[in-house]
Amino acid sequence: MSGVLGGFPQVSRVDLQGSSNFLAKLRRGSKHFPASKKLRRAVDCGAGIGRITEGLLVKVADVVDVVEPVKSFTDQVEGKTGVGRIFNVGLEDWHPEQDGEALKYDLIWTQWCLGQLKDVQVVEYLQRMQKVLSEGGWIIVKENLSNHHKGEDVYDETDSSVTRTPEKFQQLFDKGGVKVVSTELQRGMPKGLYLVRTWALQPKSG
Ligand SMILES: C[S@@+](CC[C@H](N)C(=O)[O-])C[C@H]1O[C@@H](n2cnc3c(N)ncnc32)[C@H](O)[C@@H]1O
Repeated sequence: MSGVLGGFPQVSRVDLQGSSNFLAKLRRGSKHFPASKKLRRAVDCGAGIGRITEGLLVKVADVVDVVEPVKSFTDQVEGKTGVGRIFNVGLEDWHPEQDGEALKYDLIWTQWCLGQLKDVQVVEYLQRMQKVLSEGGWIIVKENLSNHHKGEDVYDETDSSVTRTPEKFQQLFDKGGVKVVSTELQRGMPKGLYLVRTWALQPKSG
């Protein structure tokens, strides 16, 4: 867990509580998915060892699918209560709409992994996800924000990831055809870490 969160294990509890509150607020305003009923199917994208699956998603959804390229990570969550299909691929290669059975997700959770994708891959991902999103459902993006003094994306050579500015995220959402229906900064993170923002997205055309 500590490895997944860059050496800050206490961040996980704060993060999961913030996410749970954010989702509860979204559902309070939702006619399709009120908090009184469990979601049918959610998916944890770039799930790692299933921290969010276990700490949040199985509590709010009947079935939680998992997308994560590293199989040794998903081995730790496979078979647990509430966990559905496991897809060991990168998000850029995940085509749920082509996977035989017509999968539909009420909630698509994408956290701390979009930095592994190029801008164009994020746009394509958002476009693809809309096709498998239930009416009234949400694509959640929760990511670190660049703190670059000139307002630029930050590239990390060691793990080939990018930390984007809020403006860049907005551009990618626009290109991906989604609108922001709610957004919030994560509070209570240790000082010295990147700021973390959560966005709830829905198709612009919806
Ligand atoms: C910092 S961890 C975050 C895990 C989880 N989302 C969480 O918040 O606990 C980043 C994860 O992204 C995964 N990852 C790397 N490349 C990816 C890709 N192309 N698509 C999806 N996930 C990827 C890594 O294997 C790792 O498990």
